[in-house]
Amino acid sequence: MTGLDALTAARGVLYGGDWNPEQWTPDVWREDVALMRAAGVNLVSVGIFSWATLEPEPGRFDTAWLDEVLDLLHDAGIAVDLATPTASPPPWLAHRYPETSAVDAHGVRMSVGSRNHFCPGSQVFRDHVEAVVRHLVDRYADHPAVAMWHVGNELGQTCWCDRCAERLRTWLRARYGDVDALNAAWATAFWSQRYSSFDEVVPPRAAPYLHNPAAELDFRRFTSDQLRDLYRLQAGIVRERSDAPVTTNFMNFFPGVDQHTWADDVDVVADDCYTDPADASSPARAALAHDLVRGVRRGEPWLLMEQAAGAVNWRAHNVPKSTGAMVLDSLRAVAHGADGVCYFQWRASTGGAERFHSAMVPHAGPDTDLHRAVRAQGALLQRLRPVVGARVDARVALVFDWPSWWAGELLPARPSMRLDVLGRLAAYHEPLWRAGIATDVVPPSADLDGYDLVVVPSLHAVTDADAANVARVPERGGVLLVGPFSAVADEHARVRRGRFPVPWADVLGASGEDWRPLDDAGLRVASDRYGAFTATTWSEHVRSDGAEVLATYADGDLAGLPALTRRTHGDGEAWYVTTVPPRDVLAAVVADCLTAAGVTAPLTDVPDGVEVARRGDVLFVLNRTRGKQVVRIPGPATDLLSGDGVADELLLPAEGAAALHLAPTERTR
Ligand code: GAL
Repeated sequence: MTGLDALTAARGVLYGGDWNPEQWTPDVWREDVALMRAAGVNLVSVGIFSWATLEPEPGRFDTAWLDEVLDLLHDAGIAVDLATPTASPPPWLAHRYPETSAVDAHGVRMSVGSRNHFCPGSQVFRDHVEAVVRHLVDRYADHPAVAMWHVGNELGQTCWCDRCAERLRTWLRARYGDVDALNAAWATAFWSQRYSSFDEVVPPRAAPYLHNPAAELDFRRFTSDQLRDLYRLQAGIVRERSDAPVTTNFMNFFPGVDQHTWADDVDVVADDCYTDPADASSPARAALAHDLVRGVRRGEPWLLMEQAAGAVNWRAHNVPKSTGAMVLDSLRAVAHGADGVCYFQWRASTGGAERFHSAMVPHAGPDTDLHRAVRAQGALLQRLRPVVGARVDARVALVFDWPSWWAGELLPARPSMRLDVLGRLAAYHEPLWRAGIATDVVPPSADLDGYDLVVVPSLHAVTDADAANVARVPERGGVLLVGPFSAVADEHARVRRGRFPVPWADVLGASGEDWRPLDDAGLRVASDRYGAFTATTWSEHVRSDGAEVLATYADGDLAGLPALTRRTHGDGEAWYVTTVPPRDVLAAVVADCLTAAGVTAPLTDVPDGVEVARRGDVLFVLNRTRGKQVVRIPGPATDLLSGDGVADELLLPAEGAAALHLAPTERTR
């Protein structure tokens, strides 16, 4: 059972978007609901930013409009994902209680007039949240349209106010017990930072120079936990009265929320993903984001809660999506495990900050190419019912977690700011995605036993237990591929003493003593296996302690020393890449690791610009190019999208797609 089962059983793939009816008159509501029906919309999120309309004055609630909206949707057979409206508190709250607004690191209090200005730690704010959520839940828990709850929106607030400082201290007391343990973890003996009591600790506010990295890490952990606490407050009120699934929309690689620690709090993982049509790496990045959010609840189907139908309004230059790309983005999400695809927002605003953001019904109305594509997409998604509930069967894991990202990329004063965790993660994911190989992004604490290849592109900070979990992979016969600057620090960002990577030196059969960021010229590397290439950004002074050396640095102080090593462990292998190789070399290394792990691609000879992803018995083939493409398939199969049988050659039109339901004999892993 997953949180989406009840919804999808009756409806198939979920389809819809945020609807903000408070900006429209009732005649528009009626037109909207008719258009939704015609487009096959079966789920809408309502009320996300409606606090000021719901509670125009403190304690005075106006729900008549929402009654009508929910009834209209119910009559049309459209399920409602009802939001707690707490992302944007009304101006009266900040006016009466200034402490409900967040304060930044410089002591500046956030103003009303935008959204998301609240202080997540303010008790007054929480009291008002509780009141409005209780009112909403009491009124609508039994409404037949309400099929899901949407707590707040993109929870992500960081606050440095005095109240949050108190809450931070309480959190630290619970984490460390006594202040000496905190002093040890934070290495406060350096720079005279020793605390004699928790009362002296403050959040990392504006300061003349670098903050203590362990303090910053804990502040990030605290901030994520505090937001989860605010989520729990609201989810708890909902759960007292309703059995419908509760969720909130994550923002995939957003630094403020450690989603792995929220896994058991959401009944469904929901994510917002905004691809940039002007960025050629966007499809790969979206696939990586999908592989991340699917991993949060261990592979359960998830919901793409928000994406854009055309252009967004918040980049400097907002190139619209083609209608073909709009459909491909949705199909990619389904292929990577989503059981629903939704948008921000249903109808384009005429006023307000998002008046130039695309929507499913543009300003020009339904008689537009975009809206026709929205309608056609609704019909297409209905044909994907056979995939609903199916899992993505991944044999490759890519290891990532938030604390390690914070420590390895977001803290200042590291050997190089150019070696970025997400960039490395994307670089190792890309060849896997390009080959159509299913990959789960998982934390280092995950059960790794089901994976034949475990890739650790850049796991800077890792606990002893997690490091041991990863080290077991080659010992039990799997293949481990480790990138540079990994396992360098513990969970407090303290550098481990010894030849690095200390916890993995043994398993890798190689160890290092020095990191050497490279100048712009890079460094030549010689390799019989991969040919000569230029390493960029980073190198490490490493020796082999028994591993086979597959590439060596060719110049400078490191000349003759290993750049790439492999150690075998019976059937298992441990690979160590100590630098940033060019894209084609990294792809060749990844391909070799896949071969060693016995993992094969679902299709071979796939043309450039054609994306392949398998979910259950369905193979999605997406043609992102503006030309026709022919793809050879092991055949025969039925294309769920067209209903046609396909023998052994699939012909895809420009920006066309197929969802091949494979014949049982072709169901290889
Ligand atoms: C999201 C947000 C939506 C809308 C959208 C625009 O971050 O949740 O409310 O603002 O961005 O792209």
